[in-house]
Amino acid sequence: MPVITCIQDLKDLHRKRTPKMFYDYCESGSYTEQTFRENTSDFADIRLRQKVAVDMSGRTTESTMLGRKVAMPLGLCPVGMTGMQRADGEIKAARAAAKFGVPYTLSTMSICSIEDVHAASPEPFWFQLYVMTDEDFVDNLLERAKKANCSALVVTLDLQILGQRHKDLKNGLSAPPKLTLPNIVNMMTKVQWGLEMLGTPRRTFGNIVGHAKSVTDTSSLSTWTTEQFDPCLDWAKIARIRDNWGGKLILKGINDPDDARMAADFGADAIIVSNHGGRQLDGALPTIRMLPKILEAVGGERGKRSTEVYIDSGIRQGQDILKALALGADAAMIGRAYIHGLGAMGEAGVSKALQILRAELDTSMALCGERDVNRLRRENLLVPKGFFDSYVQP
Ligand SMILES: Cc1cc2nc3c(=O)[nH]c(=O)nc-3n(C[C@H](O)[C@H](O)[C@H](O)COP(=O)(O)O)c2cc1C
Repeated sequence: MPVITCIQDLKDLHRKRTPKMFYDYCESGSYTEQTFRENTSDFADIRLRQKVAVDMSGRTTESTMLGRKVAMPLGLCPVGMTGMQRADGEIKAARAAAKFGVPYTLSTMSICSIEDVHAASPEPFWFQLYVMTDEDFVDNLLERAKKANCSALVVTLDLQILGQRHKDLKNGLSAPPKLTLPNIVNMMTKVQWGLEMLGTPRRTFGNIVGHAKSVTDTSSLSTWTTEQFDPCLDWAKIARIRDNWGGKLILKGINDPDDARMAADFGADAIIVSNHGGRQLDGALPTIRMLPKILEAVGGERGKRSTEVYIDSGIRQGQDILKALALGADAAMIGRAYIHGLGAMGEAGVSKALQILRAELDTSMALCGERDVNRLRRENLLVPKGFFDSYVQP
């Protein structure tokens, strides 16, 4: 058994143990991948301020998200096709998150259905919605999420049309994978993955097939997705969804202060500052660089805002969480960091990813001279001069 010390170790195992098309699906950004790359390098450019001779005992990473206690201010992002990285992946990730004490978000484009995850997870989870033109289907998804006791609805705003990821086209990405010769040869080297997949009935999009009109099998699914994502999504449509849902609402995919202000005025319970992990608008700035201006636009202080501000895109270490919190975010969210854990070791790998991130957060916080994650502040950081103002409108 290899010794696992960081998310990179899980990523290496994920690559070894998962069919190429699904690893590539996870580990890619759109077009030139500039935003994807800079999401992580911008975090690295922010540095931590070392403090000594302060009492480091009695530390805590506990906090709250949407009024609920969490073991650390970190959530698991919605990730489509998680159940292709590992059989029943969504169930495994939801269980690991529930046991750890952080929220899990199920994607519309998941393999396990809302009902599957509800039956298997000991805690309520969040449901992420992609808005479709078929309003009956959307209303039905909301009803199913309500029935499954989902504790928040995450509406994704930054993927009404798809940013192209070259590798997915080259690999012929599909769920289940097509049985072409290269796929068969590649899958034969992923024995554990294959055995587990043979043992589950869940191998296609569980929230869609059998629920949406005219989708009875996956062969029509890709056409359906391209046709169905609603390119006309606007605030009036989001209001309709909010009224139908009636519960906690999180708006995901905001990366601009004006949009953040709109979301706060709209009454969102939280926003997720996100560029979709660099998978949509290539050339968009990394979220961590946009964060201070977005926080200013939303207003208020951490822990007291009526619209909480979470951030994702590029978080791979506990130090990154620390940086986001110190800048003023209420919480951070991760996508790839837990998917690497899942692809490496299933549910145990997701737990491992969460343990690693918490230990890194806790140790770094202590070495910054802080004992409470809720008290991290800008004085804990050092940034290159002009870092947050280096890009202006021409
Ligand atoms: C493989 C993959 C699939 C994703 N699928 C979805 C999805 O179905 N819905 C959604 O809102 N975001 C989706 N995202 C974006 C994530 O929710 C999140 O914004 C992103 O992964 C954060 O960046 P990080 O991976 O660098 O942490 C996906 C991301 C990845 C990597």
